[in-house]
Order: sequence, then C-alpha cells, then structure tokens
Amino acid sequence: MKLKYADITPEAIYLDRRAFMVGAAALLVGGARAEAATPPEPAALKATPNPKFRIDDPPTKYESATTYNNFYEFGTDKSDPAHHAASLRPRPWSVVVDGLVAKPQRLDIDEVLKAAPLEERIYGLRCVEGWSMVIPWIGYPLSMLLRRAEPTSKAKYVEFTTLKDPEQFPAQKPGLFGLGGGLDWPYTEGLRLDEALHPLALLTVGMYGKVLPNQNGAPVRVVIPWKYGFKSAKSIVRIRLTEEQPKTAWNKAAPQEYGFYSNVNPDVDHPRWSQATERRIGEFRRRKTLMLNGYADQVASLYTGMDLRKNY
Ligand code: MTE
Repeated sequence: MKLKYADITPEAIYLDRRAFMVGAAALLVGGARAEAATPPEPAALKATPNPKFRIDDPPTKYESATTYNNFYEFGTDKSDPAHHAASLRPRPWSVVVDGLVAKPQRLDIDEVLKAAPLEERIYGLRCVEGWSMVIPWIGYPLSMLLRRAEPTSKAKYVEFTTLKDPEQFPAQKPGLFGLGGGLDWPYTEGLRLDEALHPLALLTVGMYGKVLPNQNGAPVRVVIPWKYGFKSAKSIVRIRLTEEQPKTAWNKAAPQEYGFYSNVNPDVDHPRWSQATERRIGEFRRRKTLMLNGYADQVASLYTGMDLRKNY
C-alpha cells in the first residue's frame, strides 16, 4: 500500500494548497522531471561491519531503498527524490559544528569522512507513515564529531540543518509552497544532547557498500534508528549545540502531530492513525511495531521517568 501525501499532511494545509498543487505540481515537477538526469551510480565506500549493531532481518532491496524516499526538498511524492536527485551537488560541501562548543568546526566533507573509522551497521528505519526498511548504513557515531567540537556544559540539545538552496532542491523554490509539503526551509531537526551522544546515533555517509546516494541524503545525514524516520535529517550543513530545545521542521508544520521526541512507540497513536503495526517495504503482511523500534534495551534508559504519551 502506498500512503498518499494527504495521509501525513495536516488536512488544513493539504486542502489549502490542493488546488494550487494540482496545477503547479503537474507543470513544474513535470517540467523538471523531463530535464532530470540520472545521478551517477555512487562510488564504492569501504567500511568494517560492526557485529554489535546489526539486526538479523534481511536488508531492503537497494532499488527500493533508493527509489521510495521522503526528501521533501525534492517534492512530496516518494518517487520525486530519485527523479530530481541529480540537481543536488554533494561536493564541494562543508559541515559547520558550532553553537555552545569550545572549538567550533568547519569541516570539508572529506574531513568529515575521515574523522573516525567507517563502520557498517544494519539498522531498521521506521517511518511515521507506517512503513519500514532495513538498511546497511555506513558511518560512525555522531558523538565522535560532536566531541571534536567540545560541547560546553551549557549545551543541552543538538540542532541539524539541511542545505537551503533552491537551485539544488527544486521544491524550495519560492512560491512552490505545495511542492515541499508546506515545510519551512531549511529542514531542521533536533535531539537532546544525551540522545545525540548515544552510540546508536549514526553520522551517516554511505549505504549498501557505497557512498550515500543523493536521494538518501548525500553527502552526510544522521540515522537515529529508535525514532521515526523524519528525525534522521539529510544533507546536513550545520550541527549546532544549543541550550534551548530546537524548533524542528515537522513540529513547526503540525505541532499536534509531530512532537520533539518522536520515539517509535506502538502504544501512542498518531492523531490520525495507529502506530501499532508497520509494513516492511518488499513484504505484504504487516508486522507489529516494536517499542523504540526494537532498540528499547539500548535506549529506554534515556527516558526514565518521562511520560512518553506527553513527550511524543
Ligand atoms: N531530511 C530532509 N532534509 N528532508 C526530508 O524531507 N525526510 C525524513 C528523513 N530526513 C526528510 C529528511 C523522513 S520522513 C524519512 S522517513 C527519512 O528521511 C527517509 O530516509 P530514506 O529516504 O533514506 O529512507
């Protein structure tokens, strides 16, 4: 089953822009699609498998993981990212780590790649829309990059910012409100600092033995496997340490539906649908969704004493 965009977008926003979208989407995305070139096949990327972080389920087909994506900067349809991905230029690229840190950094992407040994980890990714994938990611713990910058004692949160460049991300073009799902650009996400320092939080530069394809968030993204997929921000240009809880793109768009924590939780329904089950891409049956996406043993202690219904 393919969920429609209307299923995840607040109805008011959806209806508001629907008339505009029908015409504009056909014209503009249609036009862009005609021009879109296929991005080159990503180069091979070596990484050492880490047996400690490896779920046993068979990985999703590469073909599916690279053609069924959410990356609203390219449009809201699952096929938009793969169609438009060639417009993203993942080099040259740099990542700033700043805010409440003793040693602010501006790292060229090649320095980011070399900042720690690359590992392969097989993680499940559960999207808030009710589907999931299993992906062999390549990266290293986000903590390695954060520690380089030496967060100060005031730092309590981490904010991730995606590139804002309408030339590279067609749905960011001014006036194309509907095509980007009504999100406020740049896309931002956030974690509490202790979540970001957790060994499972992966700074990710590749997948399936290759450099990250553009549609999956090249050249660098995060993967936070115990949270709904939208917390895993793509194509990151800035990582900022803050004292205040950062504002996040989805929380700003629909605060009653997307909270700051967004932990995978089968017991807490989305206001408009159940989160109790999921469909693995490539399978027909629905499986039970596991608490914290199956990572409860590792991360539940981060939330001791918190009401996860309130802190959704
Ligand atoms: N990051 C940015 N910048 N823009 C997005 O639209 N979508 C999120 C997340 N990161 C998104 C993003 C959502 S909803 C999901 S499910 C995952 O990316 C999908 O990652 P994947 O395409 O590698 O499966």
